[in-house]
Amino acid sequence: MMDVRLENISKTFGGKPVLKNITLEIRKGEFFTILGPSGSGKTTILRIIAGLEKPDQGKVYFNNINVTDTPAHDREVSMIFQSLALYPHLTVFENIAFPLRVRKRGEEDVKKTVREIASTLRIEDILNRNISSLSGGEKQRVALARALIYQPKIFLMDEPLTGLEPAFRQELRREIRTIQRSTGITTVYVTHDQVEAFSLADRVALLHEGVLQCVDEPQRVYEKPENLFVAKFVGDTPLNMFTGTVEPVGNGALVKIEDIGVVFRANITKMPAGGKVLVAARAEAFRVDENHAALSGVVVGREVLGDRIVYTVDVKGREIVVKTGADTIHNKSAQIRLAVDVDKLMLFDEEGRRL
Ligand SMILES: Nc1ncnc2c1ncn2[C@@H]1O[C@H](COP(=O)(O)OP(=O)(O)OP(=O)(O)O)[C@@H](O)[C@H]1O
Ligand SMILES: [Mg+2]
Repeated sequence: MMDVRLENISKTFGGKPVLKNITLEIRKGEFFTILGPSGSGKTTILRIIAGLEKPDQGKVYFNNINVTDTPAHDREVSMIFQSLALYPHLTVFENIAFPLRVRKRGEEDVKKTVREIASTLRIEDILNRNISSLSGGEKQRVALARALIYQPKIFLMDEPLTGLEPAFRQELRREIRTIQRSTGITTVYVTHDQVEAFSLADRVALLHEGVLQCVDEPQRVYEKPENLFVAKFVGDTPLNMFTGTVEPVGNGALVKIEDIGVVFRANITKMPAGGKVLVAARAEAFRVDENHAALSGVVVGREVLGDRIVYTVDVKGREIVVKTGADTIHNKSAQIRLAVDVDKLMLFDEEGRRL
């Protein structure tokens, strides 16, 4: 098994910095996802790991060996491209067999290995078809099979499920995860889809404009984001943002959000300059609660998402997004009371760094 280390990698295209001083370690056997908006540099990182692109600065290590100058074909890495890059003039069988043909494997060996991988991915029936006759989902499976056929040391996948319908995406996602678990191949998976990144990953890196924002386990990225960009980027509802003032109390601080009249104790030790903080609250930090409620407001919007409801509630002229269970449904204009789970409030300084 291989680990991958990127050390101070920078890359510029036509004078425009695309990756800025990226240092990153991907562990042996890990399923690592890189998440980020379009143009943030995700594909460029993969291409640098694969050896298809040379960094302007910095080094790439596989198992502590510097491979920065090692050509792509000597890296034993296999990559699924964003475009899939299947060979249109070859059959499904020959597409999958291609990496084995390049390695001059014997005919019997090729047949057996292609059948095995085709069976795992349930595409035995289409081995004789032409690429142009396949559906999107079948093409993705063929690309997966081709990438997996000679056990690479590192598996790189660039948005391999883009464009598929949700149910199918989910199914293939599960298969990719199962294959990765059973082979233990170190995998780097790029996506701009948060659900995908979170559901697949042992750890997630978030990239924004060529700068690495954080690397952590999915749950921690969600609950303890390192900065405000990360906090806003993850999550499926808009983040509620307030400004607050802090004053030291005992070994923590008292935080006041005057806008909505909430005061709570927080365990911060480092007081921000000027005593001002940004308080971010995900929609689930609030719940509708008639008995322990700190706030009252009026429902101005409602979106029912199966077992959850997302309300927009006007509290003292401030709109707050609230996600709550669907046992009681409140109508528009209803007066409701909200409780705040203060443990779920996230504090940042004015530069957006977590306190
Ligand atoms: N060969 C190239 N020549 C010039 N500019 C490039 C080249 N490759 C990438 N870029 C630019 O570098 C930036 C990052 O590109 P990259 O493909 O790594 O982004 P990405 O995060 O993969 O985006 P997407 O989600 O759209 O695939 C973009 O602005 C892109 O236009
Ligand atoms: Mg890309």
